[in-house]
Amino acid sequence: MNDLMSLGIHRYWKSQFVRALPLKPQARILDVAGGTGDIAFKILESYPYLNPSVTVCDLTPNMIEVGRSRALDRGHITQLEWACGNAECLPFADEQYDIYTISFGMRNVTHLSKALAEAYRVLKPGGYFVCLEFSQVQLPLLEKIYNAYSFNILPCLGEIVAKDRDSYQYLVESIRRFPTQSQFADLLKSTGFVDVDWKNFMAGVSCIHSARKK
Ligand SMILES: C[S@@+](CC[C@H](N)C(=O)[O-])C[C@H]1O[C@@H](n2cnc3c(N)ncnc32)[C@H](O)[C@@H]1O
Repeated sequence: MNDLMSLGIHRYWKSQFVRALPLKPQARILDVAGGTGDIAFKILESYPYLNPSVTVCDLTPNMIEVGRSRALDRGHITQLEWACGNAECLPFADEQYDIYTISFGMRNVTHLSKALAEAYRVLKPGGYFVCLEFSQVQLPLLEKIYNAYSFNILPCLGEIVAKDRDSYQYLVESIRRFPTQSQFADLLKSTGFVDVDWKNFMAGVSCIHSARKK
């Protein structure tokens, strides 16, 4: 469905997201809402020479189960850990990670301020927060086309292909409810992050937010 909905563009966004990570040798990365491991695999496969390790944390045990078996198929046995946990209450000690990543997961969190405070807590001082998420389209004409697609075509695709119209209706609504680029940047600043920045893709259809813990 992701490939169909985005015509495969989500793969490009995820590649750009992983390329944007400020990785140092032996970096410890926490990928929250990591699903079945897409981002973790891309990190391990893009930076083998830096020998990073990734902990994938997701709320849904089934996602983790599928992720573990995908990891075995791809030969990722070491350097990868899996944990079941909520972004709002992470099951990790303070100041453990160099980078916190979250890709298309922040939108699902109920209390953003709790999730951001948790991201801040588990990062080492100087550690980076990097988030890929749908965002607000900044070009009025593109926004019209995007809205027409999202509200009319997407839920129908969900119904026909995934036999699940409601989930795709939820997807569209959750994107509209998510803070705009500047609102999310303000939330990061109020959590205590510095060097807060963002980069839009397709005029804001999706966006990479980045920040650093002092
Ligand atoms: C759209 S998927 C994204 C998966 C992956 N990060 C990617 O980009 O392919 C969203 C994931 O967020 C997880 N999730 C939803 N709410 C969460 C929460 N509060 N804490 C942690 N994970 C959550 C879901 O289980 C799901 O795996």
